[in-house]
Amino acid sequence: MSAASTPGTGSRADGAAAAPAGPLAGRRILLVIGGGIAAYKSLDLIRRLKERGAPVRAILTNAAQAFVTPLSVGTLTGEGVFTDLFDLTAEHDVGHIRLAREADLAIVAPATADLMAKLANGLADDLASTCLLASDRPVLLAPAMNPTMWANPATVRNVARLAADGRRFVGPNAGPMAERGEAGLGRMAEPLEIVAAAERVFGGGRLAGRTVIVTSGPTHEPIDPVRYIANRSSGKQGHAIAAAAAAEGARVILVSGPVTLPDPPGVLVRHVETAREMMEAVTAALPADAAVMTAAVADWRVAAEQAHKLKKQPGGGPPALDLVENPDILATVGRHPTARPALVVGFAAETDDLLANARGKLERKGADWIVANDVSPATGVMGGDRNTVRLVSRAGIEDWPELPKDEVARRLVARIADALAAPPSQEG
Ligand code: CTP
Repeated sequence: MSAASTPGTGSRADGAAAAPAGPLAGRRILLVIGGGIAAYKSLDLIRRLKERGAPVRAILTNAAQAFVTPLSVGTLTGEGVFTDLFDLTAEHDVGHIRLAREADLAIVAPATADLMAKLANGLADDLASTCLLASDRPVLLAPAMNPTMWANPATVRNVARLAADGRRFVGPNAGPMAERGEAGLGRMAEPLEIVAAAERVFGGGRLAGRTVIVTSGPTHEPIDPVRYIANRSSGKQGHAIAAAAAAEGARVILVSGPVTLPDPPGVLVRHVETAREMMEAVTAALPADAAVMTAAVADWRVAAEQAHKLKKQPGGGPPALDLVENPDILATVGRHPTARPALVVGFAAETDDLLANARGKLERKGADWIVANDVSPATGVMGGDRNTVRLVSRAGIEDWPELPKDEVARRLVARIADALAAPPSQEG
C-alpha cells in the first residue's frame, strides 16, 4: 500500500478555513512518522498543525505502521498518507521529489535513531529517507528513543552532524520511558512543543531575526605542549543559554572553550581553546543584537609558551612562569566603538563581595547587565546543574531563586527578548 486515500476526510480547505493567521498558516508540512511508541503523539500533532492552518502530508515508515495505522493518519491529514517509495508516482502522481519539494517544512516525529542515522549519512533506502534527502527545505527533528540509544556515541555523532548540517531539533525531553522502570533523556517533545518549534522556523520565536553571541566554558592557556592553566567551568550555563536563545528563534553563535558537553542543537558553535582565540571568534561574530559572556576566561596566560615539555632540573627548584594579562572579551564587546550589541551581558562568578564586585564589573566592562553568582565550593555551582543568580543592572538588583541552569537560561533569554523589544531608553 502506498497512499491510502481516506474516505470522508474532507478537503484541505476544512483545516485551513478555520485556522487563525499565524506563522504556520498556509505552510505545507511534510510529516515523517518514524517507528517508535511516540508515533501515537504524531496523531495529535497533525491535529495541532491543521488547527493552525498548516496542510499536512504524512509519510509512515514501515516500522511506524506497527504503531499507528495509515488509515488513522490519512483520516487526520485529509491528504492521504504515503508509505511506499516505488508505488508513489504511478498511483498518485506525487513522486518523491515533488512530495519533498511541495513542503515548506519537513517534521520528523518521532525521529528514531535509525532515521537520524540515515539522514546524517545521506542514505535513501525507503520513502521517508529518500524524501528527506530530496528536500531542500528546513527539517525539524523530534527525537524519541531509549536514553541509552540517545547517549550512544553513534547517535551523539549523528546528532552533531545533523545540527552542523542545519537540521533543527526539538527535544528530546527527560522523563519516564515506555519501558517499565526506565527514565532519562529520550521522550519525544509534546505536540505543542513541536508546533512551537515549527512556528519558530517561520519566524515565530521572540528572538527571530536576532543574532546572539554566547561564550561558554573555560579557556586553556598553554604552558608547554602538555600543560595548561585552566579553571573549573563546565560550560553548562553558557551552553544552556545558547540552546534557550536558539529555541526562541535567534541565530546563535556559541564560542565555546574546551568542554565535554555536546554542541547544542541549532546553534553555530565555534570551538576555541585560549582567551585570545575566544576574543578573535567573538569579534568575528559581530555585529550582533545581544552578547552573553558566560565563559570563565583565564585572566592570565604564560608570556612565552614553551615549545618543549618543561623538565625538572636536579636541584633547580620550580620553574618561574612569566604571566601576561589576557584581553578582556566582555570589555572589548561592551565598549566596542562601532559594533556594540544593543545588549551586553556579563557573568560574575565570585566567592566574596558578590554585589560590589558585580557592580564594579558592570561599569568597568561597559556591560548592561551582570549575572552575579556565588561560586564558593559549598554552593556546588561550578560543574553542578543548579545556580542561584542575581541580575545586576544600573536599574537595580533582582534576586532569582535557586533554579536548574536550564531554567536560569530560559529566564535570562526571556529577559533579553523583553529588553530587545523595548525602546532603548528603557534599557537599564
Ligand atoms: N571576561 C571576559 N574576558 C576576560 C575576563 C572575563 O570576557 N579576559 C568576562 C567573563 O566572561 C564574565 C565577566 O567578564 O562575563 C566577568 O568575568 P570574571 O572572571 O568574573 O572577571 P574578571 O575581570 O576576570 O575579574 P576577577 O577575575 O578579578 O574577578
